[in-house]
Amino acid sequence: MFTDTKRSFLSKNRDQKGFVLWLTGLSGSGKSTLAEILFEKISALGKKVERLDGDVLRGVFPNTGFSKEARDEHIKRVGFMASRLEHHGVIVVASFISPYRAARDFVRTLCGSFVEIYVRASLDECKRRDVKGLYEKAMAGQLKEFTGIDDPYEEPLNPEITVDTEHQTVEQSVQQIMDYLKSYLQD
Ligand code: ADX
Repeated sequence: MFTDTKRSFLSKNRDQKGFVLWLTGLSGSGKSTLAEILFEKISALGKKVERLDGDVLRGVFPNTGFSKEARDEHIKRVGFMASRLEHHGVIVVASFISPYRAARDFVRTLCGSFVEIYVRASLDECKRRDVKGLYEKAMAGQLKEFTGIDDPYEEPLNPEITVDTEHQTVEQSVQQIMDYLKSYLQD
């Protein structure tokens, strides 16, 4: 027995088309912050949405390393997971450094609708923020294979969206993304 509100909520969900929002960028660029807000906003629209986040996934699978091979494997696995969720009508908000272009492009080929969001902040700005204190450790040589210090980050060449978190507020970046998603979020 459903109230009208519940019934319309369920029918909305049944017809929902999934897509994958893929946030890529340096550590400290603001991926997780934006992903969290996007998740809440999309969820508040009554949509089925799931988050996949680098730190969370690595917490569950702590043996995931940071060599190119380990990162590529990790990204391909989570990308596959994202594509399966998408296939079942779920909107996926994925936030991973995902520094290698080829691995991101591989995930794009797995997904039906892949929206690559480049969360852009310069290395200097990320070092300045150093939210987790990891840049300091990496620069002191205590942390190896750190993206931007002794490991590369390959910028997206043609992302669907670039948000400039160095010069925008969090609200402005979120708004830019939500504006882009308008047609995706229509029923
Ligand atoms: S990815 O390169 O494989 O996509 P992922 O997003 O899953 O990276 O995880 C990055 C997180 O791992 C960072 O936010 C940071 O907290 C942590 N980390 C620990 N060591 C490193 C490192 N060497 N390079 C980058 N991130 C690291």
